Amino acid sequence: MINFKVRLCKWAGLHSNKEATPAFLSLRGNVETGCSVQTRRDPILYRMMMIYLLIAVVCVSVHPVQALDNGLALTPTMGWLHWERFMCNIDCNMDPQNCIREELYMQMADVMVKEGWLEAGYEYVCIDDCWPHHQRDAQGRLQADPKRFPSGIKKLADYVHSRGLKLGIYADVGSMTCGGYPGSLGYYETDAKTFAEWGVDLLKFDGCYMNWTMLGEGYKNMSRALNQTGRSIVYSCEWPLYEWPFHEPNYTAIRETCNHWRNFADVYDSWSSVKTILDWTATNQKILTPAAGPGGWNDPDMLVIGNFGLSHSQQQSQMALWAIMAAPLLMSNDLRDICPKSKELLQNRRIIGISQDPLGKQGYRTGTVDSFEMWERPLSGARLALAILNRQEIGGPRGFPLTLATLPSWQYCNPRCNVTQILPTYQELGVQALFSKQILKINPSGTALLTVTQIQDYSGKGY
Ligand code: GLA
Repeated sequence: MINFKVRLCKWAGLHSNKEATPAFLSLRGNVETGCSVQTRRDPILYRMMMIYLLIAVVCVSVHPVQALDNGLALTPTMGWLHWERFMCNIDCNMDPQNCIREELYMQMADVMVKEGWLEAGYEYVCIDDCWPHHQRDAQGRLQADPKRFPSGIKKLADYVHSRGLKLGIYADVGSMTCGGYPGSLGYYETDAKTFAEWGVDLLKFDGCYMNWTMLGEGYKNMSRALNQTGRSIVYSCEWPLYEWPFHEPNYTAIRETCNHWRNFADVYDSWSSVKTILDWTATNQKILTPAAGPGGWNDPDMLVIGNFGLSHSQQQSQMALWAIMAAPLLMSNDLRDICPKSKELLQNRRIIGISQDPLGKQGYRTGTVDSFEMWERPLSGARLALAILNRQEIGGPRGFPLTLATLPSWQYCNPRCNVTQILPTYQELGVQALFSKQILKINPSGTALLTVTQIQDYSGKGY
């Protein structure tokens, strides 16, 4: 039998909607009101903890299946990818600054080194669709559009490498890319060889114009072809995204084949897009989280931080939740012109530390209470990352009463944990007992991001 110390007092009205507050949360009282403290076994709290424990066991203890054995992406890939911000803008007469041409990647590479992006971990400069010429060359090889990439991709790769960065490129498993450029179907070996000769370090392989029943074969064949080149090339797939409309994808095979894989629709520069991605991921987390681990990651698509569509709180939410989801951090924005606050957020070492945690476990949503969503990611070093997202999009900042005892992984913090708040602002909350309470102020559609660290006893074990 487990005994819990609980505060027995009247609900102190931290939330406007008292009815929406589940029983286990209403066990907490307001310290100011002076609550009596008793020791007893509470059946509701006990049941909630057991349910949480079960969720945690299912989500955490399943060993990830075999990853693609190329030694790459041991932590989620970090870099920059042109698509969301620059799309298929090929009009270099009208819009020379923003069109898809070699200067765009050279300028981005320069800024990435000069402005601390590489130092923060953003390593890959990635080309997306609309780079190739509409015809293959006489030997059947892909070639870059000669007007927009007059120096060719190899020269561009040399340029990017000379700055200590890596180059990513885009192709498609089917007969055409989504933008209508030549696809790789029938040319997997040729294209893999061409990319390796050019010095490419990452391939984003899209799934347009392909019969869905052939997706698996196509993605596996390209994986083999890349491997045979002998060059280290991160393999970014969209295989499951194109299979989901027909059946549940085989994530064991996907993880053996790809370093990361898109599951869901393209991200747009809007909060509704980010929310849809989060909801889809949480709904399918039982399938997705066990597939993630060093060498292979679920890819919820690009970070759109620093663009036009997200408020700063929403940008913080995207950054926090992408770190919790162990997602590749591929920014799609204009690094040549980004506001200092977005830059600071994207370069936040504490958040990047969560994203790149060597344990490599993907986090998951643990529950929703009073329009607050709670997410958790197990970290190395007896730590957990917690994200609390305020899904209420009306009114002002709301207080979330954080009590370690109500966490799914509460046993981690029995009797105490050290708590660090990272977002919305950094502060050390210090040592917190299991039933102590901290009110976290969270803006509408904003997120509080924290780490909790188990306090070890003198024998080196948790209490
Ligand atoms: C698909 C992909 C996007 C982007 C475009 C390019 O929609 O999902 O990420 O690569 O194609 O055409």
